[in-house]
Amino acid sequence: MKVVDTSSSAEKSSLVAQIIAFVTTNFLLVAVLAIVGRCAYKRYASPLRNVPGPWLASVSRLWKVWSTYNGHTELDHIALHKKYGRPQFYPVIDNVIYQGLGPVVRTAPNEISFGTCDAAKDIFAVGKGFHKTMFYSVFPPKHAPDIFTEVRESKHAQMKRYAVVPYSLPQMQKRSEPIENMIKLLMQKLENYATDDKRLCNLGNLLHYFAFDVLGEVAFSRQFGFLEKEIDIEGSIKNIDDVQWYDGIVGHIAEYDILLRNNPLRAYLPKKFQMQPTTMTKIAVAELEKRKQKDGTFDSQGIDLLAELLRNHEGNAEKFSINDVFSIAHGAVFAGSDSTASTMQSFFYLVLNAPKVYERLSQEVKEAHEAGQLSEIVTYAEAQALPYFQACLKEAMRVRPAVGLGIYRRTPPEGVDIGGKHYPGGIEVAVNGWVLHRDKAIFGEDVEEFRPERWFEGDTKLKASHLYQFGGGAHLCIGRNLAIFEMNKTLIQILRKYDITLAHPGRPLQYHSTFFVVQEGLEAYLRKRSDKA
Ligand code: HEM
Repeated sequence: MKVVDTSSSAEKSSLVAQIIAFVTTNFLLVAVLAIVGRCAYKRYASPLRNVPGPWLASVSRLWKVWSTYNGHTELDHIALHKKYGRPQFYPVIDNVIYQGLGPVVRTAPNEISFGTCDAAKDIFAVGKGFHKTMFYSVFPPKHAPDIFTEVRESKHAQMKRYAVVPYSLPQMQKRSEPIENMIKLLMQKLENYATDDKRLCNLGNLLHYFAFDVLGEVAFSRQFGFLEKEIDIEGSIKNIDDVQWYDGIVGHIAEYDILLRNNPLRAYLPKKFQMQPTTMTKIAVAELEKRKQKDGTFDSQGIDLLAELLRNHEGNAEKFSINDVFSIAHGAVFAGSDSTASTMQSFFYLVLNAPKVYERLSQEVKEAHEAGQLSEIVTYAEAQALPYFQACLKEAMRVRPAVGLGIYRRTPPEGVDIGGKHYPGGIEVAVNGWVLHRDKAIFGEDVEEFRPERWFEGDTKLKASHLYQFGGGAHLCIGRNLAIFEMNKTLIQILRKYDITLAHPGRPLQYHSTFFVVQEGLEAYLRKRSDKA
């Protein structure tokens, strides 16, 4: 007969019972101990334990979430780098006092932010094995990542290869006509305000609508109609900003997205709780559908981005799918509108608040206009020939870059050198243009000041190579040609026609950083300049 020893299993179950009893009667104590233990683990069991930063950031990603929720990550990053850049906070890593590169700050248990251009150069260097972090994966559309949201580097590189030519400057120049038509519409709208120089013009809003409609033209050969109506139709722009705010916040805790916006249970909730496509998404879907032919292929005639991408898809369907075509054309509107609008708003805000700068700039444009050097709609080449304007634009992009959050990368598994120091693999690094553009070693002592003259002093090539407004490296903004082309033509066209006075000089713009810096409150009075040319 088999004898079963029940004593040890009885002991075990009584031990388990005791633990359960202890936990239930001392629930609070156990919870506190668990949280303290977890915090201690996050803070100290990390190769980044000696990097200084806020306590909350060393134990949890809540610091980042909170900062983005509050809408001013760019200011938080500047403040952190100022605070922890002081010698008493220099990090000690492997017994080395890390001061050579200036401030490095811990912004999450597994993330550090670098504050110097030297470090950024290494992080953006091509071929060093940095990867985009999961932050980007949250940005929609989830089922069809575009060039911006794709986090698999090889897939990203493949997509980008097919998109480089359609996005190139020569191709953008071929789209001059629709872009110029949009500029003409903008000028018509401004003219309505200029006829009565006491009529308040919300220049910021008009530029915002304009930037979206230009993208509609460039991507799909059709406007969204914001500028024509001078309203945010169906709240679409606001909706995009809200979505991007969510992306910016939840991107820091990307694994929770599945419980929130991408929760499969939402499909069972009433319609108002489900994700609704924006007007722009509906238009993008309709445009692709319109170009579908009876035999299942697509009509790829035309000069817009969608047509060019469709041509690249032909014969390369396996490497460059129709999903890729759609997501790139659609993504252009999301990546290119708020960013360009924000830059143009910053330009006017900074220039108009600096009377001497405005005077010198107006003079340069006036002289070119009177000398007959500007076409009816300013060309890109003519704009390039105005050095002070170029300096003002660069300086605006330096002081208020249009991306307010960090740019996030993961180090390669084998680790990597950043600024002459080795960092382990698998950590996340961040750089923020607002911080980098305040690197005194590159831009001078007066970095806080809006002073276009700095672009004529010292090593201007070095300064230009450290403007990170468009990011850098393998992920350098693919839409920068369009943005620069559009801004050069539009800004000068406005300056040559109107004398602009801010309605509230000195009043700061209201803004918040979702991913882009979304701005409000650029209100002005316009007066028509005499037309002597
Ligand atoms: C002044 C306007 C613009 C600014 C300031 C800007 C800024 C940026 C920045 C900083 C990045 C890098 C993001 C990162 O690495 O995390 C980026 C990437 C990107 N931008 Fe722009 N952008 C502008 C205009 C545009 C336009 C007009 C388009 C499209 C028509 C566009 C499409 C993209 C795309 C697709 C990427 C992803 C590139 C990649 O990962 O390879 N952007 N942009």
